[in-house]
Amino acid sequence: MNGIFAARKGILATALMTSIALVTSVTLAGAAGSPAPNSNGCTGGQLGITKRPFGATPDGTAVDVYRLTNSHCMRVKIITYGGIVQSLKIPDRDGRLRNVVLGFDNLQDYVVNNSPYFGAIIGRYANRIADGQFTLDGVTYELPKNNGPNTLHGGPMGFHTKVWRARVVGGQDSVGLKLRYTSPDGEEGFPGRLETAVKYLLTEDNTLRIRYRATTDEPTVVNLTNHSYFNLSGEGSGAIYDHVLELNADAYTPVDPTLIPTGEIAPVAGTPFDFRSPTSIGARIRSNHPQIAVGRGYDHNYVLNQPPSGLGHAASVFDPHSGRVLEILTTEPGVQFYSGNFLDGTLIGTSGRFYRQSDGFALETQHYPDSPNQPSFPSTVLRPGEEYDTTTVFRFSVRG
Ligand code: GLA
Repeated sequence: MNGIFAARKGILATALMTSIALVTSVTLAGAAGSPAPNSNGCTGGQLGITKRPFGATPDGTAVDVYRLTNSHCMRVKIITYGGIVQSLKIPDRDGRLRNVVLGFDNLQDYVVNNSPYFGAIIGRYANRIADGQFTLDGVTYELPKNNGPNTLHGGPMGFHTKVWRARVVGGQDSVGLKLRYTSPDGEEGFPGRLETAVKYLLTEDNTLRIRYRATTDEPTVVNLTNHSYFNLSGEGSGAIYDHVLELNADAYTPVDPTLIPTGEIAPVAGTPFDFRSPTSIGARIRSNHPQIAVGRGYDHNYVLNQPPSGLGHAASVFDPHSGRVLEILTTEPGVQFYSGNFLDGTLIGTSGRFYRQSDGFALETQHYPDSPNQPSFPSTVLRPGEEYDTTTVFRFSVRG
């Protein structure tokens, strides 16, 4: 798995790092050949990365936006606040570029209004921890409760609110950003000082590859993910009900009324949760299944049919309107499929339109929710001397 990911850190990468320290806005790399024009104006572009200011947090910390491009018309913007994927543009079947992730066009909204966690790195613990507490090695840790009785997505000041240190990385066929954040011992109630690195890599095959690594100096729990919401027809274009989803999972983890897993691993067969064959997201979202009622739609962790090691195919999503396809591979054992149920028409997105329920979906690769309190689930414990190391791949293509 690690071998697949390894970027070629050559002279180019070193040059990029040096350059980026010296300039605020300049195209830093041009490794690709001549642009590949197509009939709809996308000229292909170049493998490269630029950096610009994106404002400052209320305490005055500067935030930057990095724009990653490849020579096949894929463009990704990542901001150092929250490690947020702020924009991701890819061509449709006719070559037209649209931004396919939900978000905001300014930092202020991310700081004040990002209750949906648009595009953010989530940590230390993605998803919910029951009653805001867990016990590890006989010690009980109390966490801030920010979702009814539970802790959600690392607490109110989780990784999605941190300004990450950025360094440009990449090689001949890729360009990327390595983000680092040191979470002090006790932050948001979690034990141990956690050294965290998240690497975003854009490759020439229209793939965004994310590698998460962490080490600790005390036993702790860790579960990192990215919380991008996708709409393959384009952000702000309406609901994603027609998107056709395929999920490589025979089972899911049903939840109680506060969305904490009951501990059961339930088969999806015969339920609206069965996406083993491609099915539109909207086809069964209004079914009266009790688990759909609890989630107000889909908001559930799927137990992936994973290979014994390495990257496994988790999901693919096809948008029949644009022809765009998103395939997700991961080393993680689970994925939270969230159909944007709590988007309620109160937030104005990047292109100036209100987001309403199901205007985007998230597929959050992860360990199962509440694993620290569920001994039968795969462990999320990280101990000193061990390394947390997971990879998730978002690969884009088009279909006729
Ligand atoms: C996750 C949760 C949802 C919701 C969103 C953010 O997907 O499972 O219940 O909290 O994050 O709104």
